[in-house]
Amino acid sequence: MSSSETQPKPWKKLLIILAISILVIAIAFTGWYSLARRTPLTTYDTPEDHFKYASIGTEAVNGIPYWIWVVLPRLFPEKLTDSGGYTSLGLTWEEGREMPIGLTKESIGIARVGINCAICHVGTVRKTPLSNPSFLLGAPSNKFDVQRYVQFFFECANDPRFTPGFILPEIEYNHHLSLLESAFYRYIIIPRTKNTLLKQEEAFQWMNNRPDTGSGRTDMNPLKIQVLNLPDDGSVGSTDIMAIWNQKQREAFYYHSDGINPDLTEVVLSSALGTGTTPKEINLASLERIQEWLQELPPPAYPFAINLDLAEQGEKVFEANCASCHGLDSTRRGQVLPLEEINTDPNRANHWTQAASDGMNNYATKYPWGFNQFRDTDGYVVPALDGIWARAPYLHNGSVPSLKDLLTKPSDRPKQFYRGYDVYDQKNVGFVSTTEAATKSSFLLDTTIQGNGNSGHDFGTDLKLSDKNALLEYLKTL
Ligand code: HEC
Ligand code: HEC
Repeated sequence: MSSSETQPKPWKKLLIILAISILVIAIAFTGWYSLARRTPLTTYDTPEDHFKYASIGTEAVNGIPYWIWVVLPRLFPEKLTDSGGYTSLGLTWEEGREMPIGLTKESIGIARVGINCAICHVGTVRKTPLSNPSFLLGAPSNKFDVQRYVQFFFECANDPRFTPGFILPEIEYNHHLSLLESAFYRYIIIPRTKNTLLKQEEAFQWMNNRPDTGSGRTDMNPLKIQVLNLPDDGSVGSTDIMAIWNQKQREAFYYHSDGINPDLTEVVLSSALGTGTTPKEINLASLERIQEWLQELPPPAYPFAINLDLAEQGEKVFEANCASCHGLDSTRRGQVLPLEEINTDPNRANHWTQAASDGMNNYATKYPWGFNQFRDTDGYVVPALDGIWARAPYLHNGSVPSLKDLLTKPSDRPKQFYRGYDVYDQKNVGFVSTTEAATKSSFLLDTTIQGNGNSGHDFGTDLKLSDKNALLEYLKTL
């Protein structure tokens, strides 16, 4: 037989080409549909719900496919400290909500889970271990452990069982995947998620050489190392999450514990980058809505009884000992007090450098927004004390569990205590930090570890006991 006889007829060739093209287009379309298709973001009627659940732009770059996010705690429970799934990392669900506070669910192709400001900036408080939590919007979270949250995903991705064969049946248990969807999860989404997580783990290498930060704290290094690509200088940037309410009262403040920027818009935008969005993905309108709402957001009132007569006596003690810095008309409020005057742990202030400020100020020059007010300082800002009862543990690194302990000589303050429990200790004014319940899924903060020092700020520690008690009562009213 001559070879020309085995050649398909030209129309057959055309048909084959056509069929292949259709297949390629169908696969490309499904790929785009499952991985990149943008649908309108979920909108929320109230600014409160917007703050708690709306996207700020983290899903596309750092989001985890929703169904994988749902099944990982069930597949790898041994990588969490107790059986409570994500709640053991300090996440809290409101009744009737699909996602915990601070987690967003948006479709970039498939549904993806991102995080927003509320994951760190919403606190909870309970009167007793049996009470339901009250949510404190704008308060520092005392429970969420961001480090363990990311480490959980890295550990899952490193587990040899992180395969379609292990993950898909668990997804099917909740959600029927069509044949095509299933193939996409098997060949693209699951392998890609694993690779992305392993790459992210590399970017978080610096974390292996730093003390654990634990519940309610973070390290500032991601901004320097991951956003700005500065070399790892070994510095420890452990820091407590701050309250972000009442911004109108903070108009003339320097922001961040070390006062590195006086402009709220710059602080909000840079916080969004630190949360995991990028200049391309950042959702400016969403952030503007949050910033506007923070202007008037009031601090939460102390939820237990206050002895008002005692508080009135305490106000005098405050005027005499604290108001020169923290008083509403003090010129020092919102300004940086040098390290040699405040003597608290120097690591956080030393961590931020001129190179980091220059990096930030040159970071987003190609965009209509950007930064030009970052600076380096050598101390800590005199903070406003509004809602101070809800901001325990205290000082910039959260190294002092209660207000009573802050009014105790540094050498007599607790050397170790547990963070991450939200039952309130009305006697000492802070969260319970010693009982067995507090230890269950809590983090033991050791003040002898670098960045955790509880020295300094010894104002009021010499007062007589009755004055201290009156002052504590007054502080509850702020
Ligand atoms: C991973 C936890 C985390 C997330 C997410 C987060 N923050 Fe923060 N935020 C912090 C910490 C920690 C600080 C204090 C850092 C420091 O300066 O030491 C802070 C400080 C701030 C401050 C400065 C407060 C002051 O009085 O100086 C503002 C404002 C703020 N955050 C707003 C936001 C906004 C808006 C978002 C979302 C775009 C956000 N944060 C997301 C942890 C977080
Ligand atoms: C000389 C100025 C000055 C005086 C006086 C002063 N403070 Fe402070 N205070 C600061 C500075 C600065 C910080 C931040 C220190 C840090 O975080 O390392 C601070 C932090 C605090 C905090 C922790 C805030 C938080 O969010 O963790 C509390 C509470 C506080 N002060 C209460 C008081 C009380 C009560 C008095 C009076 C007995 C007082 N301060 C006197 C400057 C002062």
